[in-house]
Amino acid sequence: MSQLATQPKLVIALDFQTGAEALGLAGKLVSLVAPGQPDLWMKVGLELFVAEGPEIVRAIKRLGFKVFLDLKFLDIPNTVRGAVRSAVKCGADMLNIHAAGGLDMAKVAVAARDEAFLEYGAECALTEKPLLFAVTVLTSMQDVDNPILRGRPAAEVALELALVSLAAGLDGVVCSGQEATRIKNACGQNFMCLTPGIRVPDPSASADDQRRVMTPEAAVAAGSDFLVVGRPVTRAVDPVGSARDMLRRMAQA
Ligand code: C5P
Repeated sequence: MSQLATQPKLVIALDFQTGAEALGLAGKLVSLVAPGQPDLWMKVGLELFVAEGPEIVRAIKRLGFKVFLDLKFLDIPNTVRGAVRSAVKCGADMLNIHAAGGLDMAKVAVAARDEAFLEYGAECALTEKPLLFAVTVLTSMQDVDNPILRGRPAAEVALELALVSLAAGLDGVVCSGQEATRIKNACGQNFMCLTPGIRVPDPSASADDQRRVMTPEAAVAAGSDFLVVGRPVTRAVDPVGSARDMLRRMAQA
Protein backbone atom coordinates (compact mmCIF):
# COMPACT_ATOMS: atom_id res chain seq x y z
CA MET A 1 0.00 0.00 0.00
CA SER A 2 1.62 3.27 -1.04
CA GLN A 3 -0.45 5.89 0.80
CA LEU A 4 -2.80 4.76 3.54
CA ALA A 5 -5.96 6.80 3.88
CA THR A 6 -6.15 7.66 7.55
CA GLN A 7 -9.30 9.75 7.44
CA PRO A 8 -11.85 10.19 4.66
CA LYS A 9 -10.87 12.75 2.09
CA LEU A 10 -13.05 14.97 -0.05
CA VAL A 11 -12.17 15.14 -3.75
CA ILE A 12 -13.70 17.95 -5.80
CA ALA A 13 -14.27 16.99 -9.45
CA LEU A 14 -13.13 20.02 -11.46
CA ASP A 15 -15.28 19.14 -14.46
CA PHE A 16 -14.72 22.32 -16.46
CA GLN A 17 -13.76 22.98 -20.06
CA THR A 18 -11.11 25.55 -19.27
CA GLY A 19 -8.16 25.71 -16.94
CA ALA A 20 -9.21 29.22 -15.94
CA GLU A 21 -12.52 27.98 -14.50
CA ALA A 22 -10.86 25.02 -12.76
CA LEU A 23 -8.09 27.12 -11.26
CA GLY A 24 -10.61 29.81 -10.28
CA LEU A 25 -12.59 27.34 -8.17
CA ALA A 26 -9.54 25.52 -6.82
CA GLY A 27 -8.07 28.88 -5.81
CA LYS A 28 -11.20 29.66 -3.78
CA LEU A 29 -11.21 26.23 -2.14
CA VAL A 30 -7.67 26.72 -0.81
CA SER A 31 -9.33 28.64 2.05
CA LEU A 32 -10.92 25.37 3.28
CA VAL A 33 -7.64 23.56 3.79
CA ALA A 34 -7.06 23.68 7.52
CA PRO A 35 -5.46 21.52 10.21
CA GLY A 36 -7.92 18.95 11.57
CA GLN A 37 -10.13 19.09 8.46
CA PRO A 38 -10.47 16.03 6.27
CA ASP A 39 -7.98 16.44 3.44
CA LEU A 40 -9.22 18.17 0.32
CA TRP A 41 -8.10 16.86 -3.06
CA MET A 42 -8.90 18.03 -6.60
CA LYS A 43 -9.90 15.74 -9.47
CA VAL A 44 -8.95 16.34 -13.09
CA GLY A 45 -11.17 14.29 -15.38
CA LEU A 46 -11.52 13.78 -19.09
CA GLU A 47 -13.20 17.11 -19.87
CA LEU A 48 -10.49 19.25 -18.30
CA PHE A 49 -7.52 17.05 -19.22
CA VAL A 50 -8.47 16.80 -22.89
CA ALA A 51 -8.78 20.59 -22.99
CA GLU A 52 -5.69 21.54 -21.02
CA GLY A 53 -3.26 18.60 -20.82
CA PRO A 54 -0.66 17.81 -18.14
CA GLU A 55 0.04 21.44 -17.25
CA ILE A 56 -3.34 21.74 -15.51
CA VAL A 57 -2.33 18.95 -13.11
CA ARG A 58 0.87 20.80 -12.28
CA ALA A 59 -0.94 24.14 -11.86
CA ILE A 60 -3.45 22.67 -9.39
CA LYS A 61 -0.65 21.00 -7.48
CA ARG A 62 1.14 24.35 -7.21
CA LEU A 63 -1.91 25.61 -5.24
CA GLY A 64 -1.09 22.92 -2.65
CA PHE A 65 -3.67 20.25 -3.54
CA LYS A 66 -3.15 16.59 -4.27
CA VAL A 67 -4.58 15.66 -7.66
CA PHE A 68 -6.58 12.61 -8.72
CA LEU A 69 -6.16 12.19 -12.49
CA ASP A 70 -9.41 10.41 -13.40
CA LEU A 71 -8.86 9.15 -16.95
CA LYS A 72 -10.15 5.57 -16.41
CA PHE A 73 -7.72 3.72 -18.67
CA LEU A 74 -9.08 0.68 -20.53
CA ASP A 75 -7.02 -0.69 -23.42
CA ILE A 76 -4.57 -3.44 -24.28
CA PRO A 77 -1.95 -3.88 -21.52
CA ASN A 78 0.89 -2.26 -23.48
CA THR A 79 -1.13 0.90 -24.14
CA VAL A 80 -2.27 1.10 -20.52
CA ARG A 81 1.35 0.69 -19.41
CA GLY A 82 2.33 3.78 -21.43
CA ALA A 83 -0.69 5.77 -20.29
CA VAL A 84 0.02 5.02 -16.63
CA ARG A 85 3.65 6.05 -17.06
CA SER A 86 2.57 9.34 -18.65
CA ALA A 87 0.03 9.98 -15.87
CA VAL A 88 2.70 9.49 -13.20
CA LYS A 89 5.00 11.83 -15.15
CA CYS A 90 2.26 14.51 -14.94
CA GLY A 91 2.66 14.39 -11.16
CA ALA A 92 -0.74 12.80 -10.44
CA ASP A 93 -1.11 11.63 -6.83
CA MET A 94 -3.82 9.16 -7.81
CA LEU A 95 -4.85 7.61 -11.11
CA ASN A 96 -7.24 4.93 -12.28
CA ILE A 97 -7.98 2.17 -14.75
CA HIS A 98 -11.12 0.18 -15.50
CA ALA A 99 -11.22 -3.16 -13.63
CA ALA A 100 -13.15 -4.49 -16.64
CA GLY A 101 -9.78 -4.55 -18.47
CA GLY A 102 -9.00 -7.75 -16.55
CA LEU A 103 -6.25 -9.07 -14.31
CA ASP A 104 -3.38 -8.85 -16.80
CA MET A 105 -4.12 -5.22 -17.69
CA ALA A 106 -4.38 -4.33 -14.00
CA LYS A 107 -1.09 -6.04 -13.12
CA VAL A 108 0.67 -4.23 -15.95
CA ALA A 109 -0.76 -0.93 -14.66
CA VAL A 110 0.60 -1.61 -11.16
CA ALA A 111 4.05 -2.43 -12.52
CA ALA A 112 4.00 0.69 -14.73
CA ARG A 113 3.01 2.88 -11.77
CA ASP A 114 5.86 1.43 -9.69
CA GLU A 115 8.53 1.84 -12.38
CA ALA A 116 7.36 5.33 -13.34
CA PHE A 117 7.43 6.45 -9.71
CA LEU A 118 11.05 5.33 -9.44
CA GLU A 119 11.92 7.10 -12.70
CA TYR A 120 9.95 10.34 -12.38
CA GLY A 121 8.94 10.60 -8.70
CA ALA A 122 11.74 13.01 -7.76
CA GLU A 123 11.34 15.31 -10.79
CA CYS A 124 7.56 15.46 -10.15
CA ALA A 125 8.06 16.12 -6.41
CA LEU A 126 6.04 12.99 -5.61
CA THR A 127 7.00 11.90 -2.11
CA GLU A 128 4.70 8.87 -2.15
CA LYS A 129 3.79 6.40 -4.86
CA PRO A 130 0.64 7.58 -6.64
CA LEU A 131 -2.42 5.60 -5.62
CA LEU A 132 -3.83 3.36 -8.31
CA PHE A 133 -7.55 2.58 -8.29
CA ALA A 134 -9.82 0.59 -10.58
CA VAL A 135 -13.34 1.59 -11.57
CA THR A 136 -15.76 -1.25 -10.83
CA VAL A 137 -19.28 -0.33 -12.00
CA LEU A 138 -19.95 3.32 -12.81
CA THR A 139 -22.28 4.97 -10.29
CA SER A 140 -24.43 6.19 -13.19
CA MET A 141 -25.39 2.56 -13.94
CA GLN A 142 -28.37 0.76 -12.53
CA ASP A 143 -29.07 -2.94 -12.45
CA VAL A 144 -31.97 -2.86 -14.86
CA ASP A 145 -31.44 -3.06 -18.63
CA ASN A 146 -27.70 -2.57 -18.47
CA PRO A 147 -25.83 -4.46 -21.21
CA ILE A 148 -22.60 -4.63 -19.21
CA LEU A 149 -24.25 -6.00 -16.06
CA ARG A 150 -26.35 -8.44 -18.11
CA GLY A 151 -29.09 -8.65 -15.51
CA ARG A 152 -26.77 -9.06 -12.53
CA PRO A 153 -26.93 -6.68 -9.57
CA ALA A 154 -24.35 -3.86 -9.80
CA ALA A 155 -23.20 -4.64 -6.24
CA GLU A 156 -22.35 -8.24 -7.16
CA VAL A 157 -20.38 -7.24 -10.26
CA ALA A 158 -18.61 -4.47 -8.32
CA LEU A 159 -17.48 -6.97 -5.67
CA GLU A 160 -16.15 -9.40 -8.28
CA LEU A 161 -14.19 -6.62 -9.98
CA ALA A 162 -12.87 -5.45 -6.59
CA LEU A 163 -11.48 -8.94 -5.90
CA VAL A 164 -9.71 -8.90 -9.30
CA SER A 165 -8.29 -5.45 -8.45
CA LEU A 166 -7.06 -6.69 -5.07
CA ALA A 167 -5.39 -9.69 -6.70
CA ALA A 168 -3.63 -7.37 -9.17
CA GLY A 169 -2.16 -5.30 -6.33
CA LEU A 170 -4.18 -2.12 -6.76
CA ASP A 171 -4.71 0.25 -3.82
CA GLY A 172 -8.49 0.28 -4.07
CA VAL A 173 -11.55 0.68 -6.24
CA VAL A 174 -14.00 3.28 -7.41
CA CYS A 175 -17.46 2.11 -6.36
CA SER A 176 -20.75 3.36 -5.02
CA GLY A 177 -20.91 4.10 -1.30
CA GLN A 178 -23.65 1.48 -1.28
CA GLU A 179 -21.01 -1.18 -2.05
CA ALA A 180 -18.13 0.06 0.12
CA THR A 181 -18.86 -1.95 3.29
CA ARG A 182 -19.22 -5.22 1.43
CA ILE A 183 -16.07 -4.60 -0.61
CA LYS A 184 -13.99 -3.70 2.45
CA ASN A 185 -15.25 -6.73 4.33
CA ALA A 186 -14.21 -8.97 1.44
CA CYS A 187 -10.95 -7.25 0.45
CA GLY A 188 -9.70 -5.98 3.83
CA GLN A 189 -10.00 -2.62 5.56
CA ASN A 190 -6.76 -1.31 3.99
CA PHE A 191 -8.16 -1.80 0.49
CA MET A 192 -9.56 1.64 -0.23
CA CYS A 193 -12.92 2.69 -1.64
CA LEU A 194 -13.39 5.91 -3.57
CA THR A 195 -17.03 6.82 -4.04
CA PRO A 196 -18.58 9.27 -6.50
CA GLY A 197 -22.35 9.75 -6.63
CA ILE A 198 -22.40 11.80 -3.40
CA ARG A 199 -25.51 13.90 -2.91
CA VAL A 200 -26.83 15.85 0.09
CA PRO A 201 -30.37 15.08 1.37
CA ASP A 202 -31.95 18.17 -0.18
CA PRO A 203 -35.33 17.56 -1.87
CA SER A 204 -34.58 20.34 -4.37
CA ALA A 205 -31.13 18.90 -5.25
CA SER A 206 -30.68 16.77 -8.35
CA ALA A 207 -28.88 13.43 -8.62
CA ASP A 208 -28.13 14.44 -12.24
CA ASP A 209 -27.08 11.30 -14.18
CA GLN A 210 -25.95 9.50 -11.02
CA ARG A 211 -28.06 6.51 -9.94
CA ARG A 212 -26.38 4.68 -7.03
CA VAL A 213 -26.07 7.78 -4.83
CA MET A 214 -25.33 8.29 -1.13
CA THR A 215 -25.02 11.17 1.33
CA PRO A 216 -21.54 12.16 2.58
CA GLU A 217 -22.42 10.96 6.09
CA ALA A 218 -23.59 7.56 4.85
CA ALA A 219 -20.58 7.13 2.55
CA VAL A 220 -18.16 7.80 5.41
CA ALA A 221 -20.12 5.48 7.71
CA ALA A 222 -19.98 2.79 5.01
CA GLY A 223 -16.18 3.02 5.02
CA SER A 224 -15.46 5.17 1.94
CA ASP A 225 -11.94 6.58 2.06
CA PHE A 226 -12.38 9.20 -0.68
CA LEU A 227 -15.65 10.97 -1.54
CA VAL A 228 -15.79 12.50 -5.03
CA VAL A 229 -18.15 15.45 -5.42
CA GLY A 230 -18.64 17.39 -8.63
CA ARG A 231 -21.80 19.26 -9.56
CA PRO A 232 -23.16 19.71 -6.00
CA VAL A 233 -20.09 21.96 -5.50
CA THR A 234 -19.10 23.18 -8.97
CA ARG A 235 -22.65 24.22 -9.93
CA ALA A 236 -23.64 25.59 -6.51
CA VAL A 237 -24.43 29.26 -6.12
CA ASP A 238 -21.87 29.23 -3.31
CA PRO A 239 -19.33 26.49 -4.19
CA VAL A 240 -17.07 27.18 -1.20
CA GLY A 241 -20.05 27.01 1.18
CA SER A 242 -21.19 23.78 -0.43
CA ALA A 243 -17.73 22.19 -0.11
CA ARG A 244 -17.54 23.38 3.51
CA ASP A 245 -20.90 21.72 4.16
CA MET A 246 -19.62 18.44 2.65
CA LEU A 247 -16.54 18.57 4.90
CA ARG A 248 -18.72 19.31 7.96
CA ARG A 249 -21.00 16.38 7.17
CA MET A 250 -17.99 14.08 6.71
CA ALA A 251 -16.46 15.18 10.01
CA GLN A 252 -19.77 14.55 11.82
CA ALA A 253 -20.21 11.05 10.40
O1 C5P B 1 -21.04 15.87 -10.60
P1 C5P B 1 -20.88 14.59 -9.89
O2 C5P B 1 -20.77 14.72 -8.38
O3 C5P B 1 -21.86 13.54 -10.30
O4 C5P B 1 -19.43 14.10 -10.38
C1 C5P B 1 -18.90 12.83 -10.16
C2 C5P B 1 -17.53 12.77 -10.73
O5 C5P B 1 -17.01 11.47 -10.47
C3 C5P B 1 -17.46 12.97 -12.23
O6 C5P B 1 -16.27 13.68 -12.49
C4 C5P B 1 -17.37 11.57 -12.80
O7 C5P B 1 -16.60 11.52 -13.97
C5 C5P B 1 -16.65 10.84 -11.68
N1 C5P B 1 -16.91 9.41 -11.59
C6 C5P B 1 -18.17 8.88 -11.44
N2 C5P B 1 -18.33 7.52 -11.37
C7 C5P B 1 -17.30 6.71 -11.42
C8 C5P B 1 -16.01 7.25 -11.55
C9 C5P B 1 -15.86 8.62 -11.63
O8 C5P B 1 -19.13 9.60 -11.34
N3 C5P B 1 -17.46 5.40 -11.28
